[in-house]
Amino acid sequence: MTERQTSRTAQESADVVILGAGPAGLTLGNLLHAAGIDCVVLERADPDHVRTRARAGFLAANTVRVLDRHGLADGLHRHGKPHGTCEFRTEDGSFRLDYGTLGRRELHTVYPQQDLVADLLTHYLAAGGRIAFETEAEVVEGTDGPDPTVTVRDPEGRPARWRARYVAGCDGRHGAARRSLPPGTRRYQRDHGVSWLALLAEAPPSMDAVGYAMHPDGFAGHMTRTADITRYYLQCRPGTPADAWSEDRIWAALDRRLRADEHGPLQHGRILHRSVVHLESDVLDRLRYGSLLLAGDAASLPAPAAAKGANLAVLEAELLAEALIDELRRGDARALDRYSARCLTHIWRAQEFAHWMIQLLHSPVGQAAESFFHEAMRRSRVESLRTSRTHQDWFAENYVGI
Ligand code: APR
Repeated sequence: MTERQTSRTAQESADVVILGAGPAGLTLGNLLHAAGIDCVVLERADPDHVRTRARAGFLAANTVRVLDRHGLADGLHRHGKPHGTCEFRTEDGSFRLDYGTLGRRELHTVYPQQDLVADLLTHYLAAGGRIAFETEAEVVEGTDGPDPTVTVRDPEGRPARWRARYVAGCDGRHGAARRSLPPGTRRYQRDHGVSWLALLAEAPPSMDAVGYAMHPDGFAGHMTRTADITRYYLQCRPGTPADAWSEDRIWAALDRRLRADEHGPLQHGRILHRSVVHLESDVLDRLRYGSLLLAGDAASLPAPAAAKGANLAVLEAELLAEALIDELRRGDARALDRYSARCLTHIWRAQEFAHWMIQLLHSPVGQAAESFFHEAMRRSRVESLRTSRTHQDWFAENYVGI
């Protein structure tokens, strides 16, 4: 336990109890603590896991602005790399979009999310923020009143209870906050019917762009993570076990779908990590349930086709911090009352674009006449993106925007 961590018996109350030390929870914790709000982060994992868990790494311009505003962007400015080009390799030829010169002319910053989370944690601890690691929230109760409680299991597995004025559910889609929502909570969801084999390869990038390949065999994606690590995605049959494909089969499929014979060989390397991601989305009807408020994946799960998750998490964390500070410092609950609606505007915009991307990148499955119709529309959509400046401006604004 670090010097600022909170042992089970030290304190069991805070004005705001934050569940989860991911981008949402740690951004929120930093902003509240800096404003003098009494808060604590409860995180089930240990510090090393939090600092090293590999996740996405494409930060939107708004995310950089938010982190800059609060002095949390030093790491990403030091090590992050600007990125502004997509390359589409399709059945009808390939083309590049320099999206940094389109739409609002905004760039991504490529910065591994685990490094961002590590930065946020370092800032939070250095500022004296309270966090309890290896502390798993089990249930949030009493959220219909002003003194909700969180029951947790401490590192020794013993039950403990935290009292709060507000609980911020930043513990992801399967966390305690979601499990504690009132019966009948409405959740909008979509199963996109597509699965990806998500790979981290010990290999330098093979393209100077985000690569999207559409191929009769299926979709393949290429994203730079660092100079030595590259993220690849390979569309696979839903239900495929992560270890089903040999490394030879993986690289042969990537070479074929990314058309290495036309564009040059891919840099092969050891597959360091693999998992199967089934593309699905969901959004809760509201992000506030009395004194329980949700942010990040706990609030909505965007399909990974447009790298929106961490960027929405940071945006929502700032909106939630401002609202809680208004209420706890000045008794002004207006921002808190508007929190859910303000976030949902951004969430549904991100969901719509991620859905559009999924339709663009993946051919329909099956031989029904409907499939041929959808495939023809998909190829027409690609052609419009290739040729229409207006369409390209729309793409850039939504691809980087949040
Ligand atoms: N009790 C305490 N901590 C929990 C619990 C629990 N019951 N359940 C989950 N957690 C912790 C996880 O260990 C994790 O550290 O909550 C944190 C949730 O972090 P993320 O999953 O990163 O979620 P969020 O902060 O919303 O970030 C959203 O970041 O993970 C990426 O791209 C991904 O879209 C996602 C984005």
